[in-house]
Amino acid sequence: MLIKDFYLRHFRNYQEQKIEFQPGINLLAGPNGQGKTNVLEGIYYLLTGKSYRVKSENELILWGEKNFYLQASFDVMNRMIKLESYYETGKKVMKINQFASKRLSDYVGTVNAVFFSPEDLNIVKSSPQERRRFLDLLIAQVKPGHISILNSYLKAIRQKNNLLKRDKSTNSLRSQIQAWNEELVEFGTKILTNRWQFTEILNQYCRPIFNNIFSDQDNMELFYFGLGKKSLSEALEIFPDLLEKKMDQEIEKKSVLIGPHRDDLIINLNGRPAKIFGSQGQQRSLVLCLKLAEMEIIRREKEEYPILLLDDVLSELDEFRRQYLLDYIHITGKQTIITMTGADEKIINSQKSVFRVSNGKIWREQ
Ligand SMILES: Nc1ncnc2c1ncn2[C@@H]1O[C@H](COP(=O)(O)OP(=O)(O)O)[C@@H](O)[C@H]1O
Ligand SMILES: [Mg+2]
Repeated sequence: MLIKDFYLRHFRNYQEQKIEFQPGINLLAGPNGQGKTNVLEGIYYLLTGKSYRVKSENELILWGEKNFYLQASFDVMNRMIKLESYYETGKKVMKINQFASKRLSDYVGTVNAVFFSPEDLNIVKSSPQERRRFLDLLIAQVKPGHISILNSYLKAIRQKNNLLKRDKSTNSLRSQIQAWNEELVEFGTKILTNRWQFTEILNQYCRPIFNNIFSDQDNMELFYFGLGKKSLSEALEIFPDLLEKKMDQEIEKKSVLIGPHRDDLIINLNGRPAKIFGSQGQQRSLVLCLKLAEMEIIRREKEEYPILLLDDVLSELDEFRRQYLLDYIHITGKQTIITMTGADEKIINSQKSVFRVSNGKIWREQ
C-alpha cells in the first residue's frame, strides 16, 4: 500500500499543505515543534477516524479556525483509493472514493498503516489498557467488525454500570443485571475469541523476530490472560457463571468487575513478565518485535504491506536494531515515513525522499 498525495487544511499547525509522498523511504526532517508528528497524526486520523494523541477532535483544528479537512490518495493492490475527513464541532464526515461512510467499521482497514513512536514502549511497560488497545487496533485493521463488537460490549458495560450505581434495593435489580449479563456474554465471547486468536498469531510472528534482534538464548512468549484463565475454552466456559457469581460483589461495589475490559496480554521473557523484569533494551526490542509482527500479520491478511509510520524511533534504537529495521524496510521496499530532527539524518544514507518541515510548512528537498 502506498500513500501518494496528502492534503491538509486547518489541521494542527497546518494552514494548507500538500505533500507528494514517494515509494520507499520518506524523511520528514526539521527541528522540534515544527509539525512533523502532526503529519503522521493526520495520516493516522485519515485511516482510523481517531487520533492517538487527543480525546477531542477540536484540539486538532488549527487555532482560530472552525474545521479541518484531510484528503489523500492511496494505491491499494494497484487501485486508487481516495480518503477524506472533514470535522467541525458536531459534524464528522469520512469518505471513501467520494462516498460518506456511515460507521467507522466501514472505513477502518480500507488502507492500513503501522504507527511506531517512542511512547509505544508503554505497550510493554504500562497498564493492561495499553496492551488491549494495541491488540484491538491490530484486530480492527484486518477485521473491522471487531470495532462494532467492542462498541456494543462497552455500551452494555456502561449501561450495566449505570444500573449498579442506581438504588440497590429495587426488586428487579437482579433480573435487570442478568439481562445485561447476557449481552456481555454475547459480545464478550466474540471479543475473547478474536483476541485469543490474534495473540496466538502475534506470538508466532514475534518469537523468531525477537531471537533475530535480541538473542537466540532468550525466549519471549505472548499469551492472552482472559477472565483469569490461560485458555479460551476455559474462559468461555466459565464466563456466564462467573458473572452470576460476582453479582453480589458487583452490587456492593457498584461496578462491573469481570470481563474482557479487565483482561491483559501478557508479554513474558524467559518465563517472567517483561514489564517487571525486562531491561530497557529488552523492552524496546519487544516493542519493535510487536510492530514488525503487526506489519507481517497485516500483509498476510491483505497481501500487501501496510504503510510504516516511524515517529522519532530511529534515534531511540541502538545501531544494531536500527540497521535491522532499515534492512527490513529495504528488503521489499515498504513505503515508510520517518520523522527525525536534522541531526539524525546521517543515519540514513540510502535512497530516500527528504521533506523539510518548518513551522507548519513543508517542501521537498530531493
Ligand atoms: N490545534 C493546533 N493549532 C495550531 N498549532 C498547533 C495545534 N496543535 C499543536 N500545534 C503546534 O504544533 C506544533 C507541534 O507539532 P509536532 O508535529 O508535534 O512537532 P514535531 O515537529 O516536533 O513533531 C507545536 O508548535 C504546537 O504548538
Ligand atoms: Mg514529533
